[in-house]
Amino acid sequence: MPNVVDGFIAAVYDECLRNRDGALADYIPELDAVEPDSFGICIATSDGYVYEVGDTDVPFTIQSISKPFTYGLALGDRGLAGVAEKIDVEPSGEPFNEISLDPVTERPRNPMINAGAITSASLITGASASDRFERIRATYSRYAGRELAINDSVYRSEARTGHRNRAIGHMLRSFDIITDDPDQAVDTYFQQCSIDVTCRDLSMMAATMANNGVNPTTHERALSTELVERVLSVMTTCGMYDAAGTWVADVGLPAKSGVGGGVLAVLPGQIGIAVYSPRLDEHGNSVRGVQACRMLSRELELHFL
Ligand code: DON
Repeated sequence: MPNVVDGFIAAVYDECLRNRDGALADYIPELDAVEPDSFGICIATSDGYVYEVGDTDVPFTIQSISKPFTYGLALGDRGLAGVAEKIDVEPSGEPFNEISLDPVTERPRNPMINAGAITSASLITGASASDRFERIRATYSRYAGRELAINDSVYRSEARTGHRNRAIGHMLRSFDIITDDPDQAVDTYFQQCSIDVTCRDLSMMAATMANNGVNPTTHERALSTELVERVLSVMTTCGMYDAAGTWVADVGLPAKSGVGGGVLAVLPGQIGIAVYSPRLDEHGNSVRGVQACRMLSRELELHFL
């Protein structure tokens, strides 16, 4: 029997389904091959109940939604101070793929833009590149509550075409932000972006954040409580890139988007929200994802910032 939340989600879904604005990401060739009209919404509570509507089991690549999770792992590996030496926490107001460092600190401005995210990937500890990636994959899996896997064709597609990210990697090396092989850090970043998730997985990952770093269904810890606070702060100020200010004003929740079409938002202590719809706006954020989160925030009174 549908309850009041199911009713709200269904109404938001029906309204957003009519919106066909935006375009698929095509700078990674494989991302242009997905069904453009797919659309799913999930809300997972911090005690593990999932409300869902639409295409919530369709796999898509996590892309930039990976960034806060790898940042959290880097914070666990290197500590707050160790990571702060390499990555700032200032909003950049720039697009996600800007080839830039802060001119004063000579560090990436935050871990949500590519320069900061490639640096986070370089800070993950492990005996080899494959160990480092395996730690990343296993960590995301703990958040999701099931074993996640890489989508090889998307990974190969980005590895073949990702020259701008390689340029960022070499810039980071030349400023000693990355101190070993920059191509390896960029490759780890391409792999993490290519992990397949569903809308349901993303809502559980968000609910794990909402539940202070513990997955609400498996009860496994993915991140320490102190670090959840730092990751959510950076998602609030930087998660939606050069649209972060509008997002905070309109939606009022820490969030992260990816060019695969996912958007994830967290209401600490309460719920994780995930939306999947692959048509993107000019910032690289899902059009329906932004619209659905804005409506859900308004209808369910979730704006807390
Ligand atoms: O670095 C890239 O270009 C992609 N792997 C990820 C970019 C992304 O998802 C930006 N977010 N909306």
